Amino acid sequence: MRRIFFFILPILIIVAAGFVVFGMVQARTDEDKLMDELKRKAKAVAESMELSVQAVLEMHNSRNANYLVEKFQTRDRLQGCVIYDAESKIVAITERFADWKDKPKPYLEAVFRDKIPFSGIEKFKDYTVYSYVLPVLREDGSALGSVEIIYDTSYVLGRLGEIWKGISVTLIVLFILIILASVIVLRQMFLLPVLRLTDWFKGFLRGEEAHHRHPLTDKDELGKLANEVEQVALSLRVARRAIVEDAQTQLNKEEVWTENKLRSFIQAKLGTSTMLVVSNREPYMHMADDATGKILCIRPASGVVTAIGPILRALGGTWIAHGAGNADRKFVNSKDKIGVPPEDNRYILRRVWLTKDEEEEYYYGFSNEGLWPLCHITHTRPIFSEKDWDTYQKVNQKFADAVIEELPSGPAFVFIQDYHFTLLPAMIKAKRPDVVVALFWHIPWPNPEVFSVCPYQKQILNGMLACDLIGFHVQYHCNNFLETANRLLECRLNTEKFSIVRGAHETLVRAFPISIALPSPEDVILEKELAKVRKEHKLEGKIVAVGVDRIDYTKGIGERILAVDRFLEKNPEYKKKFVFVQIGAPSRTHIKRYHDLGGEIDELVEKVNWKHSDGDYKPIIYIKRHLSTEEIAPFYALADICIVSSLHDGMNLVAKEYVAAKQDETGVLLLSCFTGAIREFTEAISINPYATEEFADAIRMAVTMSPEEQRRRMAAMRKIVQENNVYRWAGSIVSELSGIRNRDHEKPSA
Ligand code: G6P
Repeated sequence: MRRIFFFILPILIIVAAGFVVFGMVQARTDEDKLMDELKRKAKAVAESMELSVQAVLEMHNSRNANYLVEKFQTRDRLQGCVIYDAESKIVAITERFADWKDKPKPYLEAVFRDKIPFSGIEKFKDYTVYSYVLPVLREDGSALGSVEIIYDTSYVLGRLGEIWKGISVTLIVLFILIILASVIVLRQMFLLPVLRLTDWFKGFLRGEEAHHRHPLTDKDELGKLANEVEQVALSLRVARRAIVEDAQTQLNKEEVWTENKLRSFIQAKLGTSTMLVVSNREPYMHMADDATGKILCIRPASGVVTAIGPILRALGGTWIAHGAGNADRKFVNSKDKIGVPPEDNRYILRRVWLTKDEEEEYYYGFSNEGLWPLCHITHTRPIFSEKDWDTYQKVNQKFADAVIEELPSGPAFVFIQDYHFTLLPAMIKAKRPDVVVALFWHIPWPNPEVFSVCPYQKQILNGMLACDLIGFHVQYHCNNFLETANRLLECRLNTEKFSIVRGAHETLVRAFPISIALPSPEDVILEKELAKVRKEHKLEGKIVAVGVDRIDYTKGIGERILAVDRFLEKNPEYKKKFVFVQIGAPSRTHIKRYHDLGGEIDELVEKVNWKHSDGDYKPIIYIKRHLSTEEIAPFYALADICIVSSLHDGMNLVAKEYVAAKQDETGVLLLSCFTGAIREFTEAISINPYATEEFADAIRMAVTMSPEEQRRRMAAMRKIVQENNVYRWAGSIVSELSGIRNRDHEKPSA
């Protein structure tokens, strides 16, 4: 209320001052006009009496003189008339104005002497009058007398009073209108929006309306302020979680790497530096169901998402990714940000929007038809086109702009994921050379001969080598990368430090075998739930093998089905006893090779099922849709065998997820020798997916493995996952990053 008062007060003062000035001018004008009019009237009356007065004075006819003054006093506002003789003696005076007689009239002398009229304002009793004296002359020009006309001027003052009264009334009405209008305008424009924003802010911090933008649609200053408030609210919400978690960290000083341990470690190593993560795939996608219109928030099937998600939860930083969900735009704030996970905001997801053409050429084209097959040795020809390359560069720049926008002016780290962003490191460094940039390559890196197929090899290597650190899953890929850079670029390898030096810049190349976060022991799947899944898929009493993949030609899904077929051919006693469940998440279906692959797998499943079917028994259950982590969990839990048969894979986290899920230490893992994971899981049954016969025998080995043997192998693998979980992975990378930062600080400035 006080604010409104102080807002309106100056307006009222200015308006009042305006009115006073206007009133004064108006009053002065009116006064002058009325006085002029009065003077003219007095003169006219005096002149009209002149001849008659001359006659009465010459004839000394006082009776006529009296008649004359009485006759004229009826005029409007005329107070009186006086006729004087040549000695200034009153000859006749209006009766009701008789007191005028006694008033001294020094001006009369001048009138007779100079024979010119007199006019002036005179005080009489308690009012002012206007007097006009006209000398009356004989024919020869000598003074005969004079006539005085006296007008009352009080009506002029009265008129002025009316003007001021009018102005005051108008002013009061105007004041009321201004106050009313101001209150309404202030309420509509400021008060209500601010109250709405305040409510939203409070609710947002309490965790309500997790995905909604602030309620103001204005684009003006208030809208801009609301946008800023929105960003602060999001950071606060995320920071609050971190503080709570931090307090818990103090209470738990675990030995194994956990989310809490990683958080403390990062705080110790990186202090308050900001950490930005960039990837193409976002950790949460909002998808509207075409049929029902219902919006679902899904976690995409992606190794990057599986690994980086837990780290960002621990860090509470910002993750920049492509907003690829068809309903993604509905859930971001004015700066394209959203707090995630949706039910418990721990970090910020900043979505970057791509046009259809950009997605087509950068994502489907250059990244997945070019670099993906180039890096995976699966005999799928990489396709490179100039158009795709142009767009790839543009999109990298788009992400670079987003990163630059998010970077604080102080120390920061940017952690880039994968082959979608080979040019991004150089683009960031061009603007912010002070920022430490790391890139993790989640897929294999081929040897120099294979990589040199790429027409843009130099630009790609130049872009990547702007990084301070490049990570691969296994040492073999590091070696391939060092060799590639050495062969294709002018650079120096530091074999002791395992780095590539170009001019003054050094890029460390390291192997960091990625992993997963272990499910907590409380997340054990209830028997009831398992029974439900068994019943739904008719798995009761069966030996169950499971495969969980994106439908991708690198995953060896077809090879797996052929191996199951061969296993049943060779071991018919397992018909009706053995079921293989393949969970396949459709992926990149817009690309012909993926589209065709979908059809090929459908056909193969159909063929093998038909071949081995018996009654309602079918050996393969193919669940071809995206399943959430929670939906996949019971399959891992009930599966006696997990088959990972990638033709080439950077690491493969499904293998680790399966091992992590087997809390009772049962189960057998069949793992392709072409995965990064095989280097850690020496206790898995190693398979060559191309060698169908051996593969089928490996299935038999798994099916017949004794529980003791299973437990021995599984316990060993679980120990590895427990020790080398994703928090340790992140810890090793952070350790390198902080080393790089300290090294840069120690460098003498140029
Ligand atoms: C691999 C890549 C990831 C990618 C994932 C899923 O794991 O290394 O970067 O996110 O495949 O592929 P998509 O194209 O659906 O993101």
